[in-house]
Amino acid sequence: MRVSERIVSFAAGGIVALAAIWASSCAKKAETGRMSIVEEVYGKTAEGEEITLFTLTNESGIQAKLINFGAILTELHVPDRSEKLEDVVLGFDSLDGWLANPAYFNCTTGRCANRIAGGRFTLNGKEYELATNDGPNHLHGGVVGLNKRVWKAEKVQDADSVGVKLDYLSPDGEEGYPGNLQITVIYTLSNKDELKIDYTAKTDQATPVNLTNHTYFNLGGQASGTILDHELMIAADHFTPVDETLIPTGEIQAVAGTDMDFTKPTAIGARIGKVGGEPKGYDHNYVLRSRDGSLALAARVRDPKSGRVLEISTTQPGVQLYTGNFLDGSIRGKGGVEYPKHAAFCLETQHYPDAVNQPDFPSVILRPGETYRQTTVHRFYAQ
Ligand code: GLA
Repeated sequence: MRVSERIVSFAAGGIVALAAIWASSCAKKAETGRMSIVEEVYGKTAEGEEITLFTLTNESGIQAKLINFGAILTELHVPDRSEKLEDVVLGFDSLDGWLANPAYFNCTTGRCANRIAGGRFTLNGKEYELATNDGPNHLHGGVVGLNKRVWKAEKVQDADSVGVKLDYLSPDGEEGYPGNLQITVIYTLSNKDELKIDYTAKTDQATPVNLTNHTYFNLGGQASGTILDHELMIAADHFTPVDETLIPTGEIQAVAGTDMDFTKPTAIGARIGKVGGEPKGYDHNYVLRSRDGSLALAARVRDPKSGRVLEISTTQPGVQLYTGNFLDGSIRGKGGVEYPKHAAFCLETQHYPDAVNQPDFPSVILRPGETYRQTTVHRFYAQ
């Protein structure tokens, strides 16, 4: 080959290489550059109601999947520090698993999330009796709570986000609660890598309302074992101590000097063996510093291995930290994984448990003419 030929061939090689780099960067952009919502049939309930799966994808490739059964987040794929996507929420591969869902994986819980002592409360002089589905207490809205209802669902989209709007009318007397309660839950995934959940509700009779989302997160990936090494910060100087049935005693106790203190980032597993009754672990409501209803940072969790970080902001005055203490390997989840104890953490933003019976806790009573509102934002990044 002559020198001039070599120069031509070298230049051509360079152009080919540059073209390849350009093409691959375009391909990456094409893969990650488009926001989308895909809607498909997921299955049918025993009663024959059709369930829809919505797949939301944002520009950085984060993907959230939702179904209109229980307004459940079935999957959430988030990048680690080397941009590898992993599903960071526990769950099941098909509708059958979600229909049973004994540990309330990733669902919308209510009408009253968490516990009501003895399943009883008095409102406007009348005593109401609810199902006692957790030992002596009422838990997560009763036997057939919002997590087991079929919601109406429709896609929502704007310039910077994709989402799903879910509506459910809980009729007067359902699970013992008074009033027709019209509930709307909107999940939106934005290009700021935030998964936001907005809840609103309206009633025609005074009734307690405390809605939350019960997602089980493992930032290492749903099949990666336990979350004991995840570092957690909660923006709370106080918590609500509980009795042996997990009902608050009414006291608001400082976390300082106790195993409950997460004011500075601390491994979830650092003191977990010293906390709670049997089984050991966190299952407690934290009293957030911000309690004026504005959107404020509630918690930050970081998985040191993958570098994934989850930051939760909320308008709610409390957050229940639950560390999957009741998981024991008996639930077989996605890909056949048997979820061990502490396979995930839940940070359920809400009003305090049993607030309906605790005059000193912020009220959960919604009255006709008022609108219940709660917003919680889950922001993801890696470091
Ligand atoms: C909540 C409760 C826990 C447990 C789980 C579901 O987080 O606080 O005690 O009931 O739901 O298993």
